[in-house]
Amino acid sequence: RLQAISDAIRVVPHFPKPGIMFQDITTLLLDHKAFKDTVDIFVDRYRDMDISVVAGVEARGFMFGPSIALAIGAKFVPLRKPRKLPGTGEVIAEAYDLEYGSDCLEMHVGAVQPGERVIVIDDLVATGGTLSAAIRLLERVGAQVVECACVIGLREVKGQRRLNGKPLYILVEPREIDGCY
Ligand code: PRP
Ligand code: MG
Repeated sequence: RLQAISDAIRVVPHFPKPGIMFQDITTLLLDHKAFKDTVDIFVDRYRDMDISVVAGVEARGFMFGPSIALAIGAKFVPLRKPRKLPGTGEVIAEAYDLEYGSDCLEMHVGAVQPGERVIVIDDLVATGGTLSAAIRLLERVGAQVVECACVIGLREVKGQRRLNGKPLYILVEPREIDGCY
């Protein structure tokens, strides 16, 4: 199953800029069996872990998170890019560094209650900056981040598959073309 999932991910060389081997999950979404297997693997892992919140990272975490949330009986909470969520004083933000500059994730206060058990889902982890910001947001409201889950990531990087002390669960490694990715 994991090989078929990996095979369904398209690698686009030099997108969005030279030297980047872009891991394109839109082709995985087109492959019903591989897409369903992806969701099912996460569902099997989390269904008996007393998870009440699936938090998805905009944009590509939105493509997997809601299906997982519905299947395990959890709510889905979107973690959005800046200035997308309505409300004043009800949105909290955490910045994170990019290769050049920084970005930010925001969450509605009140969407997650203190003590709730949460998993954070995204398509891919690279530096871990995005997931770290997601973890900080959730911990600020007193939630318990049980694990971060990604479809794609390097298994052995600096964090030894942990982020801010949280476990990181990865399905497949980035696909390579001509020995680089
Ligand atoms: C990509 C990817 C992850 C993040 C991983 O998202 O979908 O969310 O980068 O990088 P990191 O581990 O180094 O933080 P991107 O910000 O490009 O935007 P998108 O999901 O909205 O397309
Ligand atoms: Mg993303």
